[in-house]
Amino acid sequence: MDAIQIIKKKREGSELSSAEIQYLIEGYTAGRIPDYQMAAFLMAAQLRGMALNETITLTQCMLNSGRILDFSAISTPVVDKHSTGGVGDKISLVLTPIVGACGVRVPMISGRALGHTGGTLDKLESIPGFRTNLQIHDIYRQIRGLGVAMIGATKEIAPADRQLYALRDVTASVDFIPFITASILSKKLAEGIDGLVLDVKLGRGAFMRKNEEARELAETLVNVGEHFGMSTIAWLTNMNIPLGRAIGNWLEVEESINCLRGEGPEDVLELSLKLSGEMIALADLAGSPEEGEEMAQTVVQSGHALNFLAKIVEAQGGDPAVIHDPALRMRTLEPQTVTVPLDISGYVSDVDAFTLAEIGNSLGVGRLVIDDKIDPEAGIVLHLRPGERATPGQPLASFYTRKTDQPEQVAHSIFDAFTFSKKPVDKPNILIDRLTFEGWASNSREHNLISQS
Ligand code: URA
Repeated sequence: MDAIQIIKKKREGSELSSAEIQYLIEGYTAGRIPDYQMAAFLMAAQLRGMALNETITLTQCMLNSGRILDFSAISTPVVDKHSTGGVGDKISLVLTPIVGACGVRVPMISGRALGHTGGTLDKLESIPGFRTNLQIHDIYRQIRGLGVAMIGATKEIAPADRQLYALRDVTASVDFIPFITASILSKKLAEGIDGLVLDVKLGRGAFMRKNEEARELAETLVNVGEHFGMSTIAWLTNMNIPLGRAIGNWLEVEESINCLRGEGPEDVLELSLKLSGEMIALADLAGSPEEGEEMAQTVVQSGHALNFLAKIVEAQGGDPAVIHDPALRMRTLEPQTVTVPLDISGYVSDVDAFTLAEIGNSLGVGRLVIDDKIDPEAGIVLHLRPGERATPGQPLASFYTRKTDQPEQVAHSIFDAFTFSKKPVDKPNILIDRLTFEGWASNSREHNLISQS
């Protein structure tokens, strides 16, 4: 077997055998297959497609590339949540302390910024001192003690995803259902969890922009997850507009802290509580997702969830004081503000998540090439979101960057991402549909996201 023959076979549209996929993944992880051959395979597979069996094998091989954690000694089911990637998606930062405060055990392995989407690891690392590269014995200790750990794929856990993730990010091979499925599920299965809640994003700011594609991704994830014996539930959610108001690593941590204080933004809190309810129920700590959601609400109101975030930060080497007082984190960038022009008066009717993500990346929020350094302070804050009133001269958005000497151009691009209407506009819905192994809740594949926003 050799890599060139396998790439050729995929380029010609044939289905690969398990042995061929295994050869590629093992060879790549061991350093025998170089980036350029793997990149050629990624592109051939994306253009020619992969069958469900190939996706399952790819997931299995990526899972086998490292160790699998074992939490069988814990009496309640160990569960986690994962998002397929969005803009301003800080749900993990809000939800993990909520479910942790409710007693759920969560060994969360997250990713970095990928394509135009943000990554939980980059957000966590904007907290001074926070370490995401825990040793395996530290992960076990933290799960046994605190109950929650927030870490990245390492040389030991899902190393194939760690390498492939970085390569996909810079070779335009992210938005492909088999790769997304294998990437997410290899990490999650490596956690040794019993249940998984998936947040499958649909819309301009997601990898899946079309209703049918996002539903297919959700179905593939649920099918493959259940194939490996993990209870898997997916929520299809709106990613046409950014989640919340903040896009950018530290800005999103600050917004998550506000959310845990019960101060919103509404959509971030609504989605966090919904997915928390699902996790609490999967962990057998509530009789239903609705009961789980009530428990989640209670720990936000009581302040337990915010305190729990400080405990996670402290356990992983970060400064818990900044969670209680975010102003303690040194800020070296001043906001630059975009205002509503004098000839516009009415309501914001739409904000394009993808455009803002791309602007954010150019400001330093994400990576354009593999070695780019992320600027934890860079980003955009939306002062107005769809449904909110816009009056002339009012602040529309602020941006933070050290990467441009043409702030007027950035301001223009941000303004262009907004659409206005003279008439009042409804706030967009965040929750679209729920999928379990039994099928979709609404039983409708016709659901059109665009009509809701
Ligand atoms: N999240 C992941 O972990 N992997 C992907 O490929 C996309 C989103």
